[in-house]
Amino acid sequence: MHTILTKSPIEAADFIRRGGVVAFPTETVYGLGANVFDEQAIEKIFEAKKRPNDNPLIAHVGNLEQIKLLVSEITPNAEKFIEAFFPAPLTLVLPKANTVPLIATANLGTIGVRMPRNELALEFLRMCETPLVAPSANLSGRPSPTTWRAVFEDLDGRIECILQGAVATEIGLESTVVDCTGNTPFVLRSGAITLEDLQKIVPETRIYLVSKNMQPKSPGLKHRHYSPRARVILISDFEFYIADSSAFIGLSKPGKKFDLIKICQSVEDYAHEFFKFFRECDHRHIETIYCETVEEKGIGRALMDRLKRASESGTPTL
Ligand code: TXA
Ligand code: MG
Repeated sequence: MHTILTKSPIEAADFIRRGGVVAFPTETVYGLGANVFDEQAIEKIFEAKKRPNDNPLIAHVGNLEQIKLLVSEITPNAEKFIEAFFPAPLTLVLPKANTVPLIATANLGTIGVRMPRNELALEFLRMCETPLVAPSANLSGRPSPTTWRAVFEDLDGRIECILQGAVATEIGLESTVVDCTGNTPFVLRSGAITLEDLQKIVPETRIYLVSKNMQPKSPGLKHRHYSPRARVILISDFEFYIADSSAFIGLSKPGKKFDLIKICQSVEDYAHEFFKFFRECDHRHIETIYCETVEEKGIGRALMDRLKRASESGTPTL
């Protein structure tokens, strides 16, 4: 298959109308979209990404009205979050409408719904005239793509079209996922809308904690994630031995010599840069990436979540 690159949301929406899959930028990371009501198109997403089919997809809407097409109920807590945040890097899990095919939600009775705030994403979604299911547009297990080039690297020849955003995605890591089906909202995945932000709207909101042998509420959380080919090691100081061909990313200036160094200006900047940095390390055949840990508050919680997952590929952490 030849993958078309375009800057035109009209051209990209045409592929969706014809049952294709299209990668498009959002404010978090690039998504790989298909019509939520087209089972064959959704199958193509799973194939293109090599995604396990027990991992549900997030539905993206171009306006608030479309949420009603996807869910059987908007719970009072969800109503409050929508009012306070949408459009936002925030996904709300709600009971799904019967009309949404089960392949979209990996047989779950719930569906994650999000309205992105990226202008090009919104324009594209509106032109599609249907909500789109869209996982991150990377090969399953690889770092999420924050540029169209990263999408191209993973999915060239596997998808119909890439809608090209001008710059890297604004935030750089995926949306916050909140289960709003019960009385207490649970954060299933942390992101740029922080626990503190959510608690300002619904004070009872909690982080959902999974232990190793529990069935996770969000099936995606049990899959290996976000890994570059290099080994990832988390560090909080510089008292360690440096392996051959190694890189560093963090907030401090390291007192040691690395082959590649990225010093970030803030935790937000770190969150924005690390996926891209992981891919750059792979291009340069870096074997070990040392990532400085940050405090687990605000977006630092989401960043640490991704870094920990990237480092959990069976290698020891420091
Ligand atoms: O920022 C984002 O959310 C990006 C952009 C493209 O919107 N999308 C994204 O999708 O990160 P994906 O498929 O890579 O991650 C979706 C996460 C997974 O962990 C999945 O298990 C969880 O959301 N999820 C989706 N639907 C769910 C549901 N009904 N119940 C619980 N968890 C759900
Ligand atoms: Mg993903």
